[in-house]
Amino acid sequence: MINVAVMGYGTVGSGVVEVLRTNGELINERAQDVINVKYVLDLRDFPGDPVEEILTHDFETIVNDAEVDIVVETMGGIEPAYTFVKRCLEAGKNVATSNKALVAKHGAELLEIARDRSINFMFEASVGGGIPIIRALNSSLTADRIDEVTGILNGTTNYMLTKMFFESADYDEVLKEAQEKGYAERNPEADVEGHDACRKIAILTSLIAGQHVDFETIHTEGITKITTEDMKYAKTMDMAIKLLASSKREGESFSAIVAPMLLSKNHPLCNVNDVFNAIFVRGNMLGDAMFYGSGAGKLPTASAVVADVVDAAKHLHRTVVTRWESNTLELVPNADAKR
Ligand code: HSE
Repeated sequence: MINVAVMGYGTVGSGVVEVLRTNGELINERAQDVINVKYVLDLRDFPGDPVEEILTHDFETIVNDAEVDIVVETMGGIEPAYTFVKRCLEAGKNVATSNKALVAKHGAELLEIARDRSINFMFEASVGGGIPIIRALNSSLTADRIDEVTGILNGTTNYMLTKMFFESADYDEVLKEAQEKGYAERNPEADVEGHDACRKIAILTSLIAGQHVDFETIHTEGITKITTEDMKYAKTMDMAIKLLASSKREGESFSAIVAPMLLSKNHPLCNVNDVFNAIFVRGNMLGDAMFYGSGAGKLPTASAVVADVVDAAKHLHRTVVTRWESNTLELVPNADAKR
């Protein structure tokens, strides 16, 4: 039996429990073991919820329990997630997280701690919700030099822009809808100001560069200044406005940007609507590839977390190598950012 502790029983954390419960049989078959959720950590109580019996408010219970093999971190934010994840890894526990803020800031360090202990720090759900982009860059595309990654990486803003474009929806109303559907961050400023997409493109760039990319050096603009009037103009030009996050190779480095951009109807990212995300990847051997799917939401994101749990279960004491060293790569200024 493989014991799992889930830290954070919010949208994604409860989704993880639901995925493991609903697909338990096939997940156990694929993990070649029985995956058992031993603890759920949260500050809140959940009277009547089946996790009530395994609920703990004390992180020490988890980190000090030698029977816990894999820890899922779905709390979000930097603290206490960073301290908890670091302590779990140092205690020899594999970790799977959906926390892009944590991965963008401390990914290189946490990967190193995991590597030193022959365990895994996994973060498939941190970018693109249910889209398997981390695994693709980390394993399926390792024969390529990746020259570009450009995508719609935030489901909330794509949902908002889609509704504003097709239904002339009001900005505040549609943001509220995205929050109700469980797409938005606890503080939706992270979505609408582009910070969430910025962290995600920093993670993808770190993976393709094999070096740490400081997200704070990426030029980032959100969608707060986009109006339904802008949408009307875009329509008259047969175009749409999308929040793009892009990273392109420039010699030995990359240039990266997050900004709302006008896309012509023929552009493959133009027709990516609602909460969907899509990531265009260009490799020097592969040519072009597109990854498309649900970019946010409870079950798609939880599905990616549980895929990491299964992978960790299969490699409990062997690190699945991830190229992401801690030396910081200096980015080349992005030409579009100078406009
Ligand atoms: N708030 C994020 C989004 C959640 O809307 O894309 C998924 O990372």
